[in-house]
Amino acid sequence: MLNIALPKGRLGKSVYGIFKEAGYPAAGMPETDRRLVYENEEAGVRYFLVKPSDVATYVERGAADVGVAGSDVLMEQDPAVYELLDLRTGKCRIAVAAKNGFVDEPSAPLRVATKYANIAKEYYKKRNREIELISLHGSIELAPILGLSDVIVDIVETGNTLKENDLSIIKVIKEVSARLIANKTSYRFKQDEIAKLVSALESREGGAK
Ligand code: PRP
Repeated sequence: MLNIALPKGRLGKSVYGIFKEAGYPAAGMPETDRRLVYENEEAGVRYFLVKPSDVATYVERGAADVGVAGSDVLMEQDPAVYELLDLRTGKCRIAVAAKNGFVDEPSAPLRVATKYANIAKEYYKKRNREIELISLHGSIELAPILGLSDVIVDIVETGNTLKENDLSIIKVIKEVSARLIANKTSYRFKQDEIAKLVSALESREGGAK
């Protein structure tokens, strides 16, 4: 059995569709109820639905053999896993955004609200810009509106959230997409099963790369 950690929610639905198309469906998926484990014995897979930001932890520690995580999460957490495939879904960007018309005042530390502390620190370190980090877990766009921060470092998908809150992108840090990742030990010991899954995902129509 190949244990696969999939992200819950928006990204999970699209990712699950890709696995199904590749020949790995599971009865009851996606998320018809509150079940967190779905199995297809014949195809040899067991899916776990986890929080998107937790996928890499499950895979790194071997609770799952493979999983699907956003490249944003991988960049932020830098887990010791193998990245096998770009699934070319869940496409978005990590960007710096601020209120329309924002002008940086370099004499004071820049207040940055984000759930991507490492990405933000790294980005501003490279630019020699002193920052004050404000860690939030959601609705990051509120921070500059309420004066809690000067800028945010966050995911932008359609751009609607920014637009509807009078914010705009200052700089795109990185393009993001969903990646298939593998536990390093599983990759050796379940080599055949994982290779078969990768090639099925690659060869499905409109395939991954
Ligand atoms: C993400 C992100 C933005 C929004 C961007 O939030 O943090 O708020 O999506 O999408 P858009 O560009 O299509 O508007 P999510 O919905 O994951 O919820 P969160 O606020 O809890 O992070």
